Amino acid sequence: MNLSIAIKKVHDYLAKNIVINPMLESIIIARYVLKKDDMFILSNPNLNINLFDYKKMIKIAKKRIDGYPLSYITHKKEFMGLEFYVNKNVLIPRPETENLVEHAIEYINKYRFKNILDLCTGSGSIAISIQRFTNANVIASDISYSALRVAFINKTFLKSNIFLINCNLLNCFKSGFDVIVSNPPYILPSEFETLSKEVKHEPKIALLCDEKYELIEKIIKKSKNLTKYLMLEISPNMRKFLESFQEFLYIKKDYANKDRIAVFKF
Ligand SMILES: C[S@@+](CC[C@H](N)C(=O)[O-])C[C@H]1O[C@@H](n2cnc3c(N)ncnc32)[C@H](O)[C@@H]1O
Repeated sequence: MNLSIAIKKVHDYLAKNIVINPMLESIIIARYVLKKDDMFILSNPNLNINLFDYKKMIKIAKKRIDGYPLSYITHKKEFMGLEFYVNKNVLIPRPETENLVEHAIEYINKYRFKNILDLCTGSGSIAISIQRFTNANVIASDISYSALRVAFINKTFLKSNIFLINCNLLNCFKSGFDVIVSNPPYILPSEFETLSKEVKHEPKIALLCDEKYELIEKIIKKSKNLTKYLMLEISPNMRKFLESFQEFLYIKKDYANKDRIAVFKF
């Protein structure tokens, strides 16, 4: 079978099962299975591909139809212009989190802040991006060892010198940071069923907090003695809860005009 026919079959299979961008995804799947770049895939429609590779492409398409995220298959996700390794142990970095990173970078560069903590780092995407675009020292922490292994891979491949720590929230820290940045788990257990089938494949520990946002409250209260500023990624329905804290400064909207970043000053 030639490559263009294989891609068309994968495309039709994805399209029939309502995958949103079947053309792009069929090319990404071919690129991944054949270990070639887009240019090669698009300029070699007559390339003969063997049955083994074709079956592999169809197997991946089946996983996609079950909602298994494409980034977990290709192990790649672009964030802040950098390519991060991801696997099923970490949240796939989201475009809206770039709002938080850009805001933190603005503060850090403006006030020449030096000591930054990325709490709940997951793949390390926030910490590594902040370090790449500032002169700050960045510590990245997470409760999950398997997430920290992913952060370590990214730190190594992106030649970053962030410092990784395994820690439950802020329990390991005693001394001062200028800014704590965090995209903590903030989905309520009662909202879980409303999530897309793709998101449901991501680790629950990365998604879910508790019905009363106690985890978020702990972060805010513990930050008091540890940092000048706390910047949190939030869900738009957390505004009232966050505004009740004395140290609350403001909420910034994301590019989709939704409440997305909460800033606290201590
Ligand atoms: C929403 S994900 C954020 C990942 C990454 N920072 C990003 O934005 O792509 C939340 C992360 O918090 C971590 N986490 C959950 N509970 C935690 C806790 N009690 N202490 C530290 N990290 C925690 C999870 O392991 C997960 O990696």
